[in-house]
Amino acid sequence: MGCLAVMAGWPLKRWLGLTLVVLHLVTLDCALPKEVKSKVGEKVGLPCCHEIPSSESLRNYRVYWQKNTKEVVLAYSEGEKISDHDQYTNRTELDSKNLTLWISPVEILDNGTYQCVVQHLRFSHDFSPRVVCDAPVSLSVTADFSEPNITSNVINTTCESTEMVVTCSSHGGFPKPKISGVFNNGSLVWNTTWVSESSLSPYNVTGKLHLNVTKDVNLTCSVEYNGFVKSTSLLLTKTNDCIAPTMPPSYNVITATSIIFIIFLLAITLAARYFPRHACFHCSKNQDSMEEDEKESMKPPMICKMTSETSSL
Ligand SMILES: *[C@@H]1O[C@H](CO)[C@@H](O)[C@H](O)[C@H]1NC(C)=O
Ligand SMILES: *[C@@H]1O[C@H](CO)[C@@H](O)[C@H](O)[C@H]1NC(C)=O
Ligand SMILES: *[C@@H]1O[C@H](CO)[C@@H](O)[C@H](O)[C@H]1NC(C)=O
Ligand SMILES: *[C@@H]1O[C@H](CO)[C@@H](O)[C@H](O)[C@H]1NC(C)=O
Ligand SMILES: *[C@@H]1O[C@H](CO)[C@@H](O)[C@H](O)[C@H]1NC(C)=O
Ligand SMILES: *[C@@H]1O[C@H](CO)[C@@H](O)[C@H](O)[C@H]1NC(C)=O
Ligand SMILES: *[C@@H]1O[C@H](CO)[C@@H](O)[C@H](O)[C@H]1NC(C)=O
Ligand SMILES: *[C@@H]1O[C@H](CO)[C@@H](O)[C@H](O)[C@H]1NC(C)=O
Ligand SMILES: *[C@@H]1O[C@H](CO)[C@@H](O)[C@H](O)[C@H]1NC(C)=O
Ligand SMILES: *[C@@H]1O[C@H](CO)[C@@H](O)[C@H](O)[C@H]1NC(C)=O
Repeated sequence: MGCLAVMAGWPLKRWLGLTLVVLHLVTLDCALPKEVKSKVGEKVGLPCCHEIPSSESLRNYRVYWQKNTKEVVLAYSEGEKISDHDQYTNRTELDSKNLTLWISPVEILDNGTYQCVVQHLRFSHDFSPRVVCDAPVSLSVTADFSEPNITSNVINTTCESTEMVVTCSSHGGFPKPKISGVFNNGSLVWNTTWVSESSLSPYNVTGKLHLNVTKDVNLTCSVEYNGFVKSTSLLLTKTNDCIAPTMPPSYNVITATSIIFIIFLLAITLAARYFPRHACFHCSKNQDSMEEDEKESMKPPMICKMTSETSSL
């Protein structure tokens, strides 16, 4: 656009004569659109496309610094300021040699594309102003975000994992940021919401995540804007709430142990009640048989049960 404007501004005769030079300049300007970065509150200089030779002065020129092709930010003619813009009052300055536009302090609203248009007023004998150059410069303004604030809310917990909602928020920055994160050595996709009064106002940003944490792990939240990054890390701790889930197993163990113990006691009791009787019965029976077989075997009375079994077989 700037290139076409340059060519349209040229009278045909001069255009023909200086075609090569113009094409060279145009190619240069269009191939390298200048971009200047600045932070809110700082001082920034937007370079113009012409430097006044030391043999001349600003008096021979008309200089327009305009923004977004329609607003005149600052204009000088024959060395006098002819136009100023409310938004830029007391914040602008023109370098009288290289025509750099200085803005201080920079505001978010200053973000945008500027053009420097230079006309030579006394270039030829007919006094017709001639456009020397017309070039765009983009100013991209950055405002720092606050350090991200990470909070986590546990919504469910089991022995294996803790399910939580993690929120990461940051405010007061520009331009519109991105939120990224690292968790468990992997990247995360945050459900992000932005709040801003207008496209040229500070942004508040909030990212939300659902996570299942199976062990203590570091989570990092990064807010990225215009190549700058603000990060915060938080150690997410798995709520070690395994006491509740482990209760039933230990209870079962106790129950099982008790049941086995009771059965054992019952068995002992039964044994105590029946065994002596059987033993006595057998023993008495055996005693009788032993008396009969006394001569044959000299086995002690302890073996009586075995003997009785053998005899029963
Ligand atoms: C213009 O001149 C000023 C000093 O007068 C200097 O700081 C600035 O870098 C110059 N800009 C360009 C684009 O040459
Ligand atoms: C600009 O500066 C002049 C002189 O220092 C001052 O009188 C005027 O109030 C300022 N204007 C604004 C909008 O700050
Ligand atoms: C801020 O300015 C830059 C450079 O001109 C432009 O790319 C960007 O879109 C602008 N941002 C807004 C919100 O207008
Ligand atoms: C982080 O956010 C929490 C909850 O919104 C708030 O209570 C806390 O003050 C914030 N911390 C910082 C440093 O902003
Ligand atoms: C918690 O998780 C368990 C297992 O996934 C599930 O059965 C239970 O319904 C969940 N509770 C809540 C409140 O989400
Ligand atoms: C973490 O990521 C780096 C690079 O991607 C890799 O070299 C490393 O082995 C990973 N560590 C774990 C514990 O996954
Ligand atoms: C993101 O959050 C919004 C509101 O908080 C919700 O409606 C939407 O479903 C969420 N998206 C994803 C992918 O979780
Ligand atoms: C952004 O957050 C700040 C601080 O929390 C608050 O004062 C401001 O009102 C918020 N801005 C918007 C547009 O919500
Ligand atoms: C977390 O675990 C719960 C229950 O086990 C499951 O429903 C949910 O989808 C999981 N969420 C994620 C982000 O893996
Ligand atoms: C988490 O990150 C901090 C700082 O980077 C580090 O000191 C800490 O050891 C990390 N913790 C874990 C569990 O990785």
